[in-house]
Amino acid sequence: MYPADNTKETLNWKDLQGQHITTVERRVLVLGSGGREHALAWKLAQSDGTRVFIAPGNAGTAQVGSNVNLKISDFEAIKQFCLKEQINMVVVGPEQPLVDGIVDFFKNDEALKAVKIIGPDQRGAQLEGSKAFAKDFMEKYGIPTAKCFKVNKANLEEGYRFLESVKAPYVLKADGLAAGKGVLILNDLHEAKDELSKMLDGKFGAASATVVIEEFLKGIEVSVFVLTDGEHYVLLPEAKDYKRIGDGDTGLNTGGMGAVSPVPFCTPEFLNRVEERIVKPTLKGLKAENIDYKGFIFLGLMNDGGDPYVIEYNVRMGDPETEAVMTRIEGDFADLLDACADGRLDEVHYAKSAMTAVTVMMVSGGYPEAYKKGMKMSGLDSLKEVVAFHAGTAFDADEEVVTAGGRVIAVTAHGHSIKEARDLAYREVEKIHFEGANFRHDIGLDLMRMQ
Ligand code: AMP
Ligand code: GLY
Repeated sequence: MYPADNTKETLNWKDLQGQHITTVERRVLVLGSGGREHALAWKLAQSDGTRVFIAPGNAGTAQVGSNVNLKISDFEAIKQFCLKEQINMVVVGPEQPLVDGIVDFFKNDEALKAVKIIGPDQRGAQLEGSKAFAKDFMEKYGIPTAKCFKVNKANLEEGYRFLESVKAPYVLKADGLAAGKGVLILNDLHEAKDELSKMLDGKFGAASATVVIEEFLKGIEVSVFVLTDGEHYVLLPEAKDYKRIGDGDTGLNTGGMGAVSPVPFCTPEFLNRVEERIVKPTLKGLKAENIDYKGFIFLGLMNDGGDPYVIEYNVRMGDPETEAVMTRIEGDFADLLDACADGRLDEVHYAKSAMTAVTVMMVSGGYPEAYKKGMKMSGLDSLKEVVAFHAGTAFDADEEVVTAGGRVIAVTAHGHSIKEARDLAYREVEKIHFEGANFRHDIGLDLMRMQ
């Protein structure tokens, strides 16, 4: 996979520090291997003078940069690669390396100090890494969220009492990272008590040694993305995700089956409330806690009649939201991230496309349960007017693209309306074939009715 064969010419680009024009190649390393990372790498590769490396990447990222065979948990190997390849900036895709302290690792290493890294440090990453931390933080800084009660083995009886005091449905959340599976929503009180005790007994391993019981929030969900340098911020395009496997929001939860951006109910008034009630107090809280946060904040929000509540913080971009969001960011994304790392987000120009993006995720048969990998894929070369972001693909021994994950490929189309964008996305999805391919047919339908 590495070294790369698609080296771009070294281009002239204006040194943003302002003194001189210099021949520089910006070398960015994106960590991760999903559709989100393909979309990030695709956008970064459009920036002037920017060469993109993706570790470990997939068959799609190889089209926009150079895949690097590195484990994202191996910080020392990442360091060696950055030094050898003179990487200027690292963009961390998934949450695990952030929760494991990759930003601290970079900041504390003399040799890596000059390398910009996009993401919060380990303390900041606790916003996602510990639901209990996030709830305490929101309580402390007056950020609207569901009422909650934190339970461990020592106060289980009080946990039962809390469950009795709230109405169904009951929301139980493992405190720590549980690969997106640590949230249970139950209608029956007895079942909720039973699951609570199972969680404390290790249903999600150490992640559920503490459980957060939450009041159930009504409303409609939306993902709002913030890029902050700790002082300033920009709101990136928002998106709606479709989490269930089946049409009409039925069946098991998945990593996400599609996305739409922008979201019709995210009116300027609603987004203004998000900024005033959530974004600004969050940044104020981070500063007050001395948390140096330079990176993405993904607000998982519930819109209850125009009032936003935080369901969860994530410290990274969403997947598949990124596959829609990146296509609506105008201008030089690497410049934007550079400014973020330098604390100059107030100085850069940033605009959103007025177009609507609809992303449809094609998944392997059986996903989100057991599924086969290694299925040959066809039709990718015949796609028109859309971008296909690879989520779980690889090259087989003959250099053919095959499936390599549950979520396989995310097709993003633009239109002047949701209808136009989804018609185009679905027209092209029909051209892609692999054994067992599955996708939702109703991405954006609910929102189309609101438009
Ligand atoms: P989380 O991992 O916190 O995003 O939770 C997974 C999903 O569970 C969310 O996307 C929501 O659909 C749902 N959820 C989580 N917390 C609540 C809540 N307090 N009220 C209603 N739904 C919730
Ligand atoms: N699409 C939801 C997530 O990335 O967590």
